[in-house]
Amino acid sequence: MSKHDKTPKMAIEAISNADWLADLHASAFVEGAWSRAAFADLLAQKTIFALGCADGFVLLQKTPDGMEILTLAVRPDKRRRGLARRLIAYARDAFKPKTIWLDVAADNQPAQALYTALGFNAYGRRSKYYKRAGNLAVDAVLMRLEFEEGATDE
Ligand SMILES: CC(C)(COP(=O)(O)OP(=O)(O)OC[C@H]1O[C@@H](n2cnc3c(N)ncnc32)[C@H](O)[C@@H]1OP(=O)(O)O)[C@@H](O)C(=O)NCCC(=O)NCCS
Repeated sequence: MSKHDKTPKMAIEAISNADWLADLHASAFVEGAWSRAAFADLLAQKTIFALGCADGFVLLQKTPDGMEILTLAVRPDKRRRGLARRLIAYARDAFKPKTIWLDVAADNQPAQALYTALGFNAYGRRSKYYKRAGNLAVDAVLMRLEFEEGATDE
């Protein structure tokens, strides 16, 4: 039993409310929050889905050979309770990808720790990809997780 198993869990469901996604994203990201319009444009695409609950969500794009995590956000006061892990597991079970890809900022240690704990491996880097205040730029680390036969029971 993991240390999170006794925590009450909110149901994860599909989310189509761009305002709500933008608000939660802004609460989770100190810099670089996405606008309501950006979420609305993304959700208008047939391959893009948001899955989540009141405390967090994951935005995904299905591809022919897998899925990409476009963004992932958990409210600051709800972290380290296993929600991000659960969101990714849910998406994996729903879409059964052979590979999951994502980009993560090189200075985002919590997110890299999460992805490493889930078994993702870094396979590349995009130089100065994320723009930051003060004309700073941070590399993107490209990570992926491959499954032999899509989702399995865990
Ligand atoms: C990254 C983020 C989504 C993690 O959400 P979370 O719900 O707190 O993550 P979980 O509780 O599921 O963590 C699962 C595991 O990831 C690792 N992890 C998560 N956050 C960590 C942190 N701050 N420091 C070290 N390890 C961490 C741990 O191994 C953790 O397992 P444990 O709690 O049993 O030790 C959350 O911190 C967040 O929203 N950050 C801001 C937005 C962001 O950076 N999104 C990702 C963009 S690529």
